[in-house]
Amino acid sequence: MSSPQQVGVIGAGQMGTGIAQVFAQSGFSVFLVDAKPVQLAQAEAGIRASARRLHEKAKIDAAAYERVQTQIRYETQLSSLQACDWIIEAIVEQEAAKGQLFRDLDSIVQPEAIFATNTSSIPITRLASYTQRRDRFIGMHFMNPVPIMKLVEVIAGLETSDSTLQRTLATVALLQKEAACSKDYPGFIVNRILMPMINEAFCALQEGLGTAQDIDKGMKLGTNQPMGPLELADFIGLDTCLSIMNVLFHGMGDPRYRPSPLLRQYVDAGRLGRKTKRGVYEY
Ligand SMILES: NC(=O)c1ccc[n+]([C@@H]2O[C@H](COP(=O)([O-])OP(=O)(O)OC[C@H]3O[C@@H](n4cnc5c(N)ncnc54)[C@H](O)[C@@H]3O)[C@@H](O)[C@H]2O)c1
Repeated sequence: MSSPQQVGVIGAGQMGTGIAQVFAQSGFSVFLVDAKPVQLAQAEAGIRASARRLHEKAKIDAAAYERVQTQIRYETQLSSLQACDWIIEAIVEQEAAKGQLFRDLDSIVQPEAIFATNTSSIPITRLASYTQRRDRFIGMHFMNPVPIMKLVEVIAGLETSDSTLQRTLATVALLQKEAACSKDYPGFIVNRILMPMINEAFCALQEGLGTAQDIDKGMKLGTNQPMGPLELADFIGLDTCLSIMNVLFHGMGDPRYRPSPLLRQYVDAGRLGRKTKRGVYEY
């Protein structure tokens, strides 16, 4: 079973930058693509700073640090991905945008290449249907921040081949991460359980059950979580949280997953969390 050599990561936001960094650290050649040049410039600065911090704390060795500086190419055109043998999509959590991207990639990238999506919630079988390579399509759900978090949730769609699954698990191991396999249902394991908790925290805030600080403090100190749910929502991005709740709500057809009106309102106001410097809290 050969491991991938050239990896294409699409979307240079919080997740794509972290994914590009960990692949480069582990010795892969990486092409990081984003539609926006300004996003790529920010990604490059962020990746270099993150690798420097990890190296200073002796979390990565000098060779891995050097690879991050030299083995990532920053591109705006999908055509740069033609010869890649592994693709990881990390653009916005919207089916229409991801579907169109996979349709375009299918005709650009060599047919043998595996397509992985970092979607937080959209069923893999559904995203695979935008391509002609449904057996070579899989979910690789990295956690935020990618260079720190150990887990990658791996989700095989209905048509994903066993060889694609095995190659993905081997790739996760090469990245020195741990895989947890989930069946292909909306939200998979992590967000099926995490997002309703975050959503409930917004309902509690809306009802005035407590201040944002007290809700977060209660959950942090009372249930031993490193971040409170509202702080975590700001970290993930409120737009991403809302998209995931919508996928759970429509995908499961169950009113218990109804997105909180307050969460919707924050997103409508452009208060998306840390990335816009304002969410539940100000940064
Ligand atoms: N934020 C999290 O904590 C988290 C965790 C796990 C998975 N995810 C998933 O990862 C994906 C990305 O999330 P994020 O938080 O990095 O989002 P983000 O908003 O930080 O970044 C998205 C990036 O994609 C780019 N983009 C959008 N459409 C594009 C296109 N058609 N072609 C090229 N680039 C395009 C944007 O310019 C932006 O830079 C989503 O599917 C999300 O659900 C997020």
